[in-house]
Amino acid sequence: MKNHPADLQAFLEALHPAVPPPWGIGKVASYIPELAKVNPDLFSICLVTVDGQVFEVGDFQQLFTIQSISKVFVHGLALEDHGRDYLLTKVGVEPTGDAFNAIILDEHSKRPYNPMVNAGAIATTSLIQGQGPAERLNRLLSMFRRYIGHDVYLDGAVFVSERTSGHRNRAMAHLMLNFGMIDEPIEESLDLYFQQCSVMVTCRDLAVMAATLANHGVNPLTGERAIAGQYIKDILSVMYTCGMYNFAGEWAYQIGLPAKSGVCGGIIAIVPNLMGIGVFSPPLDQRGNSVRGVKVCQALSQEFELNLF
Ligand code: DON
Repeated sequence: MKNHPADLQAFLEALHPAVPPPWGIGKVASYIPELAKVNPDLFSICLVTVDGQVFEVGDFQQLFTIQSISKVFVHGLALEDHGRDYLLTKVGVEPTGDAFNAIILDEHSKRPYNPMVNAGAIATTSLIQGQGPAERLNRLLSMFRRYIGHDVYLDGAVFVSERTSGHRNRAMAHLMLNFGMIDEPIEESLDLYFQQCSVMVTCRDLAVMAATLANHGVNPLTGERAIAGQYIKDILSVMYTCGMYNFAGEWAYQIGLPAKSGVCGGIIAIVPNLMGIGVFSPPLDQRGNSVRGVKVCQALSQEFELNLF
């Protein structure tokens, strides 16, 4: 990193007002009716270093639903539940170059391409262990609590909205059931997937979660281990190649960090051994990535020479 971390707060305070509102470029997600109600002007940036320093600006205490960013952490739990080899028989690690909600499976193996797109995430969630829906949900919530450092709750309205409008996700689950990639009861696994997307977080929570990954799986604010360190490289390499959907190649080229976005307008990026980045701004570009979120990460990567290569 080129500049000293002490420069970070001043840099964020100058950057925040300098990133223009994406009027006419970005649109808030509306395919889940409850998400369309968000205030498009909310905008926050938070950085958490692996030695526990926090730098933040904007609406960093605003709650929103984590959406697809949850896929990263559920991937980690599925790795812990089943190990790398078994997981690879059910979900690949290949980028798709297609939209996050594309209804596609690998032609030969019938696996979904990777755990970051919806099909792969539903398959990954279906593997989370537990006796029945309550225990499985509690295991997910405990996992999020370890990464975030405090109790987490679901947004019930977003969960119900997504459950009643999620026909496309349901279609993918049925396709994967047909090919033996997921097992019954699929409605229970779909509910768990909709619930993980409805977990409420702040921008600061995102940055702490990202910093936990940057810190080999140990939450830098609480000292608690959130995931076995041996799986960090699996998680980060899949984020690097697949986390930004059909923008993943350009993101890797321009910004050069493992990252994940969600239709909530959040983005996390990981600077291994240094810090986690969280950005929140709801208007999305055509690929489903936060317009301002991408701009912030470009600026941070450039200013502090964060590109891994
Ligand atoms: O499956 C869905 O449609 C959402 N719950 C999650 C989608 C999401 O965040 C994809 N990200 N860009």
